Amino acid sequence: MKNIFLSFLLFLNFLAFAQNPLMIPPTLSGTNINLNLQYGTHQFFPGQITQTMGANGDILGPTLILNQGDFVNFSVNNQLNDDTTIHWHGMHVSAINDGGPHTVIAAGTTWTPAFTILDKAATYWYHPHLHTRTDLHVSKGIAGLIIVKDQEEAALDLPRTYGVDDIPLVIQTKSFDSNNQIVNHSNSDTVVMANATIDPYIDLPAQVVRFRILNGSSQRVFNLGLSNNENFYLITTDGGLLNAPLQTTRLQMAPGERAEILIDLSGRVNQTLSLKSYASELPNGIYGATAPGMNASMPLNGYNPNPLNGNDFDILQINVVAPTTNPVTSIPNTLASLNPIPEADANTTRTLTFSPASPGFNQLNGEFRINNTSFDMNVINYTIPLDNVEIWELRNQSAIAHPFHIHDVQFYILDRNGNPPPATEQGRKDVVLVKPQETVRFITKFETFADDAVPYMYHCHMLTHEDGGMMGQFVVHSSNAINDETVFKGKVYPNPSSGNIHIEAKEAFSKIQILDLTGRPVFEKNFNSVNQIEIKYDKPGMYVMEIYSGTTKYLKKLIIR
Ligand code: C2O
Ligand code: CU
Ligand code: CU
Repeated sequence: MKNIFLSFLLFLNFLAFAQNPLMIPPTLSGTNINLNLQYGTHQFFPGQITQTMGANGDILGPTLILNQGDFVNFSVNNQLNDDTTIHWHGMHVSAINDGGPHTVIAAGTTWTPAFTILDKAATYWYHPHLHTRTDLHVSKGIAGLIIVKDQEEAALDLPRTYGVDDIPLVIQTKSFDSNNQIVNHSNSDTVVMANATIDPYIDLPAQVVRFRILNGSSQRVFNLGLSNNENFYLITTDGGLLNAPLQTTRLQMAPGERAEILIDLSGRVNQTLSLKSYASELPNGIYGATAPGMNASMPLNGYNPNPLNGNDFDILQINVVAPTTNPVTSIPNTLASLNPIPEADANTTRTLTFSPASPGFNQLNGEFRINNTSFDMNVINYTIPLDNVEIWELRNQSAIAHPFHIHDVQFYILDRNGNPPPATEQGRKDVVLVKPQETVRFITKFETFADDAVPYMYHCHMLTHEDGGMMGQFVVHSSNAINDETVFKGKVYPNPSSGNIHIEAKEAFSKIQILDLTGRPVFEKNFNSVNQIEIKYDKPGMYVMEIYSGTTKYLKKLIIR
């Protein structure tokens, strides 16, 4: 009798409490980052083996911690039996380093991009981007967070102890077949997970804690909130800190979007709360709502029945435990100073209209197009002058919301149907959810990098739509392209040197790059116009140093011993 009572209690426990500790991805930091893309297995369901893909492990990938200003060498080794790519979503890098569908890492080969981290402190992510197979590789498990740090963020009193009070959170839904294997291009994503953990819990200290959240789902939009509708504080949008923490009870997140939030758990030891998606509040016309299309009678194959659609569900249970020794105990008053681009600065406006390839009753299943065209690897849709300031007007003439993403830049949303965006979207962004029949305008500037050969992508971040061709590409073109390669007449000394190199020039210069003899950049530093500088690069070898002054690039042979 006692035993039965006990099992009944355990059963109640099972119903009321999440079972699995939240997995915290390991970190990689520094200026040499190695990623191995590999196959693996993972137990999503006890005793069941699921075939997966991951970076440096069975599923997901390590969190990369990068410092603004560092020149980082990456090595991405593709150990899969399939081609893929790795894209640094949200980061401002040259097209050749961006890892879009043209920069294929063939099966069994290694890709070695190298670039300076120019981004602001925020949470970014990396994922495969091979055309038509992005969802396959992401759904099977390859995705990782990137934390960029900078001095502005470091000066703030924010939680930043990874895994303790600064928690990475990759929220995803996945579809499984009857053998517990992951299915891609599916609308039957019934299983919700955080960091590849189903029914997760985490013990968090009774103080201010930070979450770095990515919606890494292939299609689903979340409407985040806490279980008792308490307030939390949004501190970053996709690409940077807000001016000040924004108090809110809800945060809608579409695929590809990131947000950092603070929750104040001070004085709450032994309490339990949960992070939920209040999907019942999502209006129809959003993947995740009761009806995925605006017209509730339009079908989407596989969408129903699914207990996640239009119903509230838990994502993560939080158990509050004793505070740490140096807790953050208050929410800062201010964070950063954003400089949105004034609308009057725009040189060009482009209109992009989203529509179904086959209109009518069945249109949610169809492919979707941008300006009536499907993605073509061989067509450049836009050529954008370097430093152009542009307004992109996104018109959704379909019945489902599309999360639009653009590479290379961060943007500011100007308006939604003519009205200012909600406060949660008034920061640096690289994804925006455009609702059915809505027009969204954003403003951005295409700076720093020009390349006539390698394009950047823009696309819907619902991976089924993206793989189906809801994508386009642009190149950034520089008319005064830096191609006068002139021998440098200033001084570079000592040369040969042992690593401390002085550079003196008559004309001010703004960038130094060092290339090895295969033409691969091994060092890069940007300045605000200087006439002399000392740099340190001490790996022995023969190199070419490039000194950029205005539109001229000077070359100098360099020997390090
Ligand atoms: Cu997150 Cu084009 O990608
Ligand atoms: Cu991207
Ligand atoms: Cu879409």
